[in-house]
Amino acid sequence: MNPHVFIFDTTLRDGEQSPGCSMTVPEKVRMARKLVELGADILEAGFPIASEGDYESVLAVSREFPEARVAALARAVPKDIERAARALEPAKKPRIHTFIATSDIHLKHKLRKTRDQVLEEAVKAVEQARQYTDDVEFSAEDATRTDSDFLEAISVATVEAGATTVNLPDTVGFTVPREYAAIIGRIAKRLNGNAIVSVHCHNDLGLAVANSIAAVEAGARQVECTINGIGERAGNCALEEIVMIMKVREEIMPFRTSINAEHLFPASQLLSEIITFGPQPNKAIVGSNAFAHEAGIHQDGYLKERSTYEIMDPRSVGVPDSKLVLGKHSGRHALQERAHSFGFNPTREQLDMLYEKFTTMADRKKGVTNEEILDLLQRELSPAASLAD
Ligand code: KIV
Ligand code: ZN
Repeated sequence: MNPHVFIFDTTLRDGEQSPGCSMTVPEKVRMARKLVELGADILEAGFPIASEGDYESVLAVSREFPEARVAALARAVPKDIERAARALEPAKKPRIHTFIATSDIHLKHKLRKTRDQVLEEAVKAVEQARQYTDDVEFSAEDATRTDSDFLEAISVATVEAGATTVNLPDTVGFTVPREYAAIIGRIAKRLNGNAIVSVHCHNDLGLAVANSIAAVEAGARQVECTINGIGERAGNCALEEIVMIMKVREEIMPFRTSINAEHLFPASQLLSEIITFGPQPNKAIVGSNAFAHEAGIHQDGYLKERSTYEIMDPRSVGVPDSKLVLGKHSGRHALQERAHSFGFNPTREQLDMLYEKFTTMADRKKGVTNEEILDLLQRELSPAASLAD
């Protein structure tokens, strides 16, 4: 059987902490219900020390979904860990996710600490977290700009202290696939199965998904991601994309996830309803154009055999169906299909005449609506041409 890649959803934490994405406690619970249905392995529900609302939302998600693996974020400081543990009390499978920055840039300018101090605090944080749960994740913030020997040392030390997952985030979206694969491969080899290696990629250079995929190939077995790719700045690795890459290209990406893909689009829709924006139209998997065809050659191929221009069935990700968009690039075949769907059966000559009028209309606009097509058909075709009777 293909190795399992754990999907760690951080829509409710990293996603929520970005502009326009804040959620109330009931909204987080509503979204969490969808994520449970989707089959996410771990739900990171918040950062309890950050605010009362975050504390309440971790508590509420833990209460509402006691069977789910719920994670809470905590800096590597005692009061954060205590607060996270308290918020997770109702959860049957609580995970404390503790982090500290490890790159020299962060050590020098943000923490003003030495590597030795950071290593000691990380170890202490993991030991403290283990007093509350046996599921502890340690994150080396800014791992991709961290000295590689120090990254290895802190990964080994935190696992010896009891961390069961070591996350190596590309916090600032700086790395590229080849480089990230080397970082992940080295740590995975060194940890030798004693902890799960996790990845958490930001999208500042548009590489979050590509970097996560490269990391999985190099030995990572947990991917941290969000619905619609929301998250700090340019966002996080998009859950729907990473999951569908492993599904659609299973022959070269032989991994499995627990995600029920038909819930991907509904999850994306629900998130868009809750926060202040949806995915851009051309967003892979869940954008409104992801299964829309406008070019005549594409529409003709698609109408003859869907697989000519579709690599996945829209219904497999919960999108009701593909869309043939009638615009200035569309061909006769698509117009004929649309006429049939409205109950009209134009002759060849009628179709030529309709097509000419349609292209004149489409040239003037960005797209032609169904109402306008219907109006054209009703105006131009005699009742005898109708199939409606
Ligand atoms: O981007 C990051 O480094 C994070 C950590 C807290 C995991 O979000
Ligand atoms: Zn992050």
